[in-house]
Amino acid sequence: MIKEKILVIGASGQIGVELTLALRKIYGNANVVASDLREENDLLKGSGPYVSLDVMNKEMLHVQVIRQNITQIYLLAAILSATGEKNPNLAWNLNMQSLLNVLDIAREEKLTKVYWPSSIAVFGPSSPKKLCPQQTIIEPATVYGISKYAGEFWCNYFHQRYGVDVRSLRYPGLISYKSAPGGGTTDYAVEIFYEAMEEKKYECFLGAGTYLPMMYMPDAIRATIELMEAPQDRISVRHSYNLSSMSFSPAEIATEIKKHIPEFEISYKPDYRQTIADSWPQSIDDSVARNDWGWKHEYDLPKMCGDMLKNLEIQK
Ligand code: NAD
Ligand code: SER
Repeated sequence: MIKEKILVIGASGQIGVELTLALRKIYGNANVVASDLREENDLLKGSGPYVSLDVMNKEMLHVQVIRQNITQIYLLAAILSATGEKNPNLAWNLNMQSLLNVLDIAREEKLTKVYWPSSIAVFGPSSPKKLCPQQTIIEPATVYGISKYAGEFWCNYFHQRYGVDVRSLRYPGLISYKSAPGGGTTDYAVEIFYEAMEEKKYECFLGAGTYLPMMYMPDAIRATIELMEAPQDRISVRHSYNLSSMSFSPAEIATEIKKHIPEFEISYKPDYRQTIADSWPQSIDDSVARNDWGWKHEYDLPKMCGDMLKNLEIQK
């Protein structure tokens, strides 16, 4: 049996921190190498190896893969939707070139598996708003969504043409308390908790009724690991799987938070991110993931809110 050695690229980000810690529990601390352009996140310090790495530098990435005997890569480095609209060229270059660098190296070094996340941002204004299916009209309206959709085709291409075992999920907006989100349109659903606890009020950059698909980080981490551990013959989608757990609006999450913090008040001042949010579906049909590899979510809105507030209180 191959001894797996994993490289997580973008390990200091919102998903990277928790995914690295979860992978270290499964594969052993020494067998999961965290890497990022920025410094090592405090929560990772002392828990396993860390290397400073720019994924755009293909030569250095290749050297690390060989030097560390890497067999799997989880590529999380990206520029998200809101930041991407401020700098479309940068978002396109990073999101595309990082994936092509990783896929090329995976092919050359015969890596056993690659993980790369896509997003609900692949869907655009012409996609169905409710229970958006796995296969439908997909015309993304943001540079982030365009880069994710193109990336999905590259994943499928490298699988079909070179046999690279690359797997992918279209994450909804992710909500977490361990590491901060990095420039997405769904970031309000994390900020709101901090402001509710500290200020008892929050000015939301999306309108009251803006429904979006969301997921609590423990579900997202479990989905990622379950997808990666599923037998090859259970993976029918080589572009990227729809993934879903809950959908809510800013008004609904505010009502839920008020059950725990009655004095909390929300106000609304939509900005440029409203247009991005309005281009995305309100809910996602993830029945293909559920049928193929048995995906089941655990957290709905009330359960997620209760857990977030409990953990943020402990962190205070
Ligand atoms: P994040 O911005 O929090 O983290 C990305 C990390 O990548 C950062 O730590 C950053 O320093 C690092 N990075 C950036 N450029 C790099 C480079 N050149 N070399 C090495 N590292 C670099 O993002 P995240 O929220 O953790 O997202 C991870 C992945 O999941 C991305 O592909 C994102 O598109 C996808 N995704 C996230 C969400 C979400 O809600 N967080 C939803 C859908 C998809
Ligand atoms: N949470 C992400 C964003 O808002 C969705 O991919 O950009």
